[in-house]
Amino acid sequence: MNILVTGGAGFIGANYVRQVLDAGGDRIVNLDALTYAGNLENLAGYDENPDYRFVRGDIRDRDLLDALFAEERIEAVVNFAAESHVDRSIDGPREFLEANIMGTQCLLEAARQAGVARFLQVSTDEVYGSLGAEGLFTEASPIQPNSPYAASKAAADLVCRAYFHTYGFPVLITRCSNNYGPYQFPEKLIPLMIANALEDRPLPVYGDGRNVRDWLYVADHCSAIDTVLRRGTPGEVYNIGGCNEMENIAIIRRLLGLLEKDESLITYVTDRPGHDRRYAIDASKIERDLGWTPAHRFDDGIAATVAWYLDNRSWWESVRDGTYQSYYDRMYGAEGRHGSS
Ligand code: NAD
Ligand code: TYD
Repeated sequence: MNILVTGGAGFIGANYVRQVLDAGGDRIVNLDALTYAGNLENLAGYDENPDYRFVRGDIRDRDLLDALFAEERIEAVVNFAAESHVDRSIDGPREFLEANIMGTQCLLEAARQAGVARFLQVSTDEVYGSLGAEGLFTEASPIQPNSPYAASKAAADLVCRAYFHTYGFPVLITRCSNNYGPYQFPEKLIPLMIANALEDRPLPVYGDGRNVRDWLYVADHCSAIDTVLRRGTPGEVYNIGGCNEMENIAIIRRLLGLLEKDESLITYVTDRPGHDRRYAIDASKIERDLGWTPAHRFDDGIAATVAWYLDNRSWWESVRDGTYQSYYDRMYGAEGRHGSS
């Protein structure tokens, strides 16, 4: 298949591009605006792959999309592109609404006009809002987003639904729980805590540290997306999760143990406004209908993740000091190996 991946220079998108190219048999065009979260080093080594093309651009650029759909004969779209960090959405909601909602609508419309056969929207369990101590999110749970990020993802998700019902456009929607693994930007809980601990800096724990997230290794999210893309039923929503609920403080203690760092680094700070208490996913539909199950146990995934951050210190240091943003100019700028693009 000729697949347009958007946001493929980010955390999950880059893991997905790697997984699909490593498996072989598909061509990927990766369209990414390279916001602060996009990092082409996440795909270093893939630039020479004949089945891969990187294009810097925004999913709100309709002319660019029309040109790409035509010249690359795109058959399927996987839309990862989004502003993705809850704390940033609290500080500045507007860009979240513009990129996540209007961006998705622009991409949907261009894909529909081009006659694309499959459109997968990478949504999130955060569209469901927050759970109490009991229960799980199912695909039928009410959509009750609580942060500007979650609201923007919920709106995008519902616009996708409308494109299926109104135009018969073959949309698939996935709603996954929290991911962790290699290449995650060190503003999210797990990589932030690893990087801070390695630099003996305080680990900021919001509120009482007892908020619960349902953690899934990123490679498992990617394999689930690929399963839905190829075998899911258009118009359907698929929850994705690993049945792995943990309190934040338990994760942090586990990381400190793996890194052999002292718990005195733990620092309780003011809670996030509107902080969702608990997320937990019922993923029985994708397991039953498509035969997908996660391949990684949390113990193995978190150990592999810690090992990756230890082995790739220069990656997260260049993210923290901002030098990663020069990669595009080095590789694709006028003087770079691939010339201007
Ligand atoms: P990320 O922030 O690491 O990456 C987002 C990527 O999208 C970046 O490369 C960025 O440059 C690009 N981008 C942003 N706006 C763009 C635009 N307007 N046009 C083109 N590219 C743009 O995010 P992530 O954690 O990899 O998440 C990817 C997707 O998965 C998001 O849609 C997110 O909502 C969803 N998701 C994430 C998680 C998680 O735990 N991280 C869980 C479920 C769903
Ligand atoms: P995060 O990684 O931002 O993901 P999300 O909010 O989308 O679930 O946060 C995961 C959990 O960790 C969430 O309950 C907030 C908490 N958290 C902290 O306690 N401290 C931090 O510095 C961060 C970034 C998150």
